[in-house]
Amino acid sequence: GSLIPGDTLDLDLEQILGILEAVWRRGDKMLERALYAHADSVTKRFCGGAVYYRGLVEFSNVCQNDCSYCGIRNHQKDVWRYTMPEEEVVEVAKWALENGIRNIMLQSGELHTEQRLEYLERVVRAIRQETVAQDLAMRAERAKSGGAEASHASGGPVEGQLADEELGVVVSLSVGELPIDHYERLFRAGARRYLIRIETSNPDLYAALHPPPLSWEHRVECLRNLKKVGYMLGTGVMVGLPGQTLRDLAGDVLFFKEIKADMIGMGPFITQDGTPATEKWTSLYPNADKTAHMQAMFDLTTAMNALVRITMGNVNISATTALQAVIPTGREIALERGANVVMPILTPTKYRESYQLYEGKPCITDTAVQCRRCLDMRLNSVGKISAAGVWGDPASFLHP
Ligand code: 5AD
Repeated sequence: GSLIPGDTLDLDLEQILGILEAVWRRGDKMLERALYAHADSVTKRFCGGAVYYRGLVEFSNVCQNDCSYCGIRNHQKDVWRYTMPEEEVVEVAKWALENGIRNIMLQSGELHTEQRLEYLERVVRAIRQETVAQDLAMRAERAKSGGAEASHASGGPVEGQLADEELGVVVSLSVGELPIDHYERLFRAGARRYLIRIETSNPDLYAALHPPPLSWEHRVECLRNLKKVGYMLGTGVMVGLPGQTLRDLAGDVLFFKEIKADMIGMGPFITQDGTPATEKWTSLYPNADKTAHMQAMFDLTTAMNALVRITMGNVNISATTALQAVIPTGREIALERGANVVMPILTPTKYRESYQLYEGKPCITDTAVQCRRCLDMRLNSVGKISAAGVWGDPASFLHP
């Protein structure tokens, strides 16, 4: 039948697999173009040309897990381990609000101690309290200095549509697998979104990459618990893991739908010296042309973004930093292939080189100001604008 721009489609596993195979073989440029154009039409239907910013604060690289691909896993050597002081995290959140970023993602390695939980509760509470107060003060100031004109100058195009409850900075967490009562405590402290990638929807592949006590089943349980508690749920996968198949990737797209994810982030697997997954990758493909391989993984990742956009419609999809590690304009390209979110890194510069999950992670020597400005320009280059001043919820979550 004929396809109307903006229509979502119910694709099954074989259909998704067929499209991924075509992208992989690189024989069918027409199909690729149609896939990306249609994904972009669905993005425009739900998000217009607006792109949401989420400020990423990598507040600690201490980790008790040993995920075989990760540059900050517990047994990775020569990593200086840090945890940012609480006040410093709160300061970054306040800086974000002043700069029109109303959404902060606090990310770290996994540490399941009572101490860490209390640290997080205090940080989340402080961010909420202080940025709400700061927001009210900013609004009062703006009203005093003359209404609409001033508000237009400092806000974004959609500033006027702010709902009353969208005060301050909304806090998202990406701190791993915790018992449900910890998720509840963090929710009560004020966190409202939670990101935890399933990494792969194939339980066997998951087991090959994550030594016990990690298990695929437990991770799925965490995703379900987060939904139960009331978080907006983010998940995602890596593309090109050693041993991963196109069929696995097709399954990932259906998994996101099944788990009812509100946010999706996907990036290519990138090697990192000293990790078991990289050793395995190198032994599986000793003669690989790495540049060509990464280009293919880039295309597969953006095809996955496009497929998620087309099958799920109104979700937030992140143009991830790992895409930029492969192609300098990778994030912009992703924004034209289904993605509608970018995450400027706001981590203070002195910590960045110690949060090296993979080789060539960009922006390691940049400051938050530079990351913010750089992304503004990048959006501009593909005709998009940042929806400054809003929380940026997908309507699927606001109106379930
Ligand atoms: N390559 C790409 N992505 C990686 N991540 C961790 N290590 C790597 C790597 N080597 C991703 C994982 C994790 C997220 C924070 O970073 O998917 O969930």
